[in-house]
Amino acid sequence: MEELKKEFEEALKRISNQEELKQLKAAFVGKKGKITALFKKLKELSDDEKKEFGKRINELKEFVEEKVKEKQDELFRKAKLESLQKEAIDITLPGRTPFGGGIHPITKTIMEIEDIFRSMGFSVEVGPEIELDLFNFELLNIPKEHPARDMQDTFYINDNVVLRTHTSPTQIRVMKREKPPVMFISPGRVYRRDSDLTHSPMFHQVEGLLVDRNVRFSDLKGVLIEFLRKFFGDVPVRFRPSYFPFTEPSAEVDIGCVICGGKGCRVCSYTGYLEVLGCGMVHPNVLKNVGYDTDRFNGFAFGLGVERFAMLKYGIDNIRLFFENDIRFLEQFSFAKGRVL
Ligand code: DAH
Repeated sequence: MEELKKEFEEALKRISNQEELKQLKAAFVGKKGKITALFKKLKELSDDEKKEFGKRINELKEFVEEKVKEKQDELFRKAKLESLQKEAIDITLPGRTPFGGGIHPITKTIMEIEDIFRSMGFSVEVGPEIELDLFNFELLNIPKEHPARDMQDTFYINDNVVLRTHTSPTQIRVMKREKPPVMFISPGRVYRRDSDLTHSPMFHQVEGLLVDRNVRFSDLKGVLIEFLRKFFGDVPVRFRPSYFPFTEPSAEVDIGCVICGGKGCRVCSYTGYLEVLGCGMVHPNVLKNVGYDTDRFNGFAFGLGVERFAMLKYGIDNIRLFFENDIRFLEQFSFAKGRVL
């Protein structure tokens, strides 16, 4: 028994996993184990010997079982520790900011312009990008041989249909549909054969029209000054006489250069001012063309380029950035930029 005990103790030292331990246990106290075999020898002994011998075998068996149990716990703790170390997570690492979507700067600019005009009572209308020559030119007082057609290099689909060169035809569409008074803006895409750092063949405009009784030029000035100050902040605004076929009188509107603050720079061609809008009192011919009574109604109209507004507001010097969809550019307008969600 002493030998068996030693043998067991030696073997136990070499055990390194649960499987080996199971086999060792079976080899000593299992059904065919060495200690179990000793019990079978009991019947060869006298009653007294049986008692003494039986007690010692039992003690040895209990000793083995106890040691196996201890080893089992030890192996279990070791395995647990190893797996914890292997699966350890460094909770001090900073989290990854999820990619946040954003609103495209052109859409954002249109939304802002819409908000300002809505707050003044204007509604929002949309017109088609494929437009009749009749609405894009003719009824806006730009007849076939009118030189103003050369100002806007047009994409023709056929003799009567064009990609609209401006949002002004929406004026015609709404006035043909509605009786006066009307008061709306109309944002949308327009197309011209033009492409350089500040011109793209597709770009966006916002048109505005107000027709009512006794509309004055001062109403136009009031609305546009209010709008420009809300959009650009507290900037100087000036009106310059100009020409458009669909307005009379017409004006172009400048704001103090937002880049140099009016001191003069490359962007404002050293004038201190930036042209941002075209506008005027609606030409009586346009009102007549849609069947409005020019003795009772008059109005004002205006048009602006959204890309130009966005470029000035966000300090962007190349119009193509809006349309290349370079993620490094767009990301700067993302909701999540600079924030950890
Ligand atoms: N349609 C003009 C253009 O594309 C912009 C414009 C000027 C619109 C004066 C107007 C206006 O409604 O009154 O250049």
